[in-house]
Amino acid sequence: MYLAQRIVPRYEALSQAGRNVVSEVIRVDQAGEVAANWIYRGQMAVLGKDQVLGPIIQEMWDQEKKHLRVMDKLQIEYQARPTLLMEVAKITGFGLGAVTALMGKEAAMACTEAVETAIGEHYEHQLQQLETISPNNEGISQLKDLIKELRDDELEHLGTAVAENSQRAPAHALMSAVIELGCNVAIQLCKRI
Ligand SMILES: [Fe+2]
Ligand SMILES: [Fe+2]
Repeated sequence: MYLAQRIVPRYEALSQAGRNVVSEVIRVDQAGEVAANWIYRGQMAVLGKDQVLGPIIQEMWDQEKKHLRVMDKLQIEYQARPTLLMEVAKITGFGLGAVTALMGKEAAMACTEAVETAIGEHYEHQLQQLETISPNNEGISQLKDLIKELRDDELEHLGTAVAENSQRAPAHALMSAVIELGCNVAIQLCKRI
């Protein structure tokens, strides 16, 4: 689990373009995992005492904590510049988690469903992007394996949210569209800033 714990940076073997891709990938993913942690923190602030959802949210949050630890490690090992939007990511993440949880349990799950849909697609896109640089680079293959693990965890969270009735949330389609758009905008911003 979490191959990055023994990841070997192979920057020296990468072209400048390759390095840029890796550092962008790490910057966005670190910010994303920070935001995810704060979304779950916001959800727990409201629903933490719920007998059913409390432990479910806590379990997903615990996984996000692991994701973040790995991304923090990678960011240091690869010396990738962290985003300047880290504080924004925390506040919007917490706000999104808390506000949707205040709207109700189903809305909280709809938030998780939408976020994980966007993030699952995002990780998928990154895998394709990494495919285009240095296929024989050991560091890159490890990074890809790690991203596959993260993607699978996020898709599991998506499944959990659906199983917990996310799709019964009021205005589900609208909420999903808005949150997914927000995630995609955040991804684009963190690539650059
Ligand atoms: Fe995550
Ligand atoms: Fe997640």
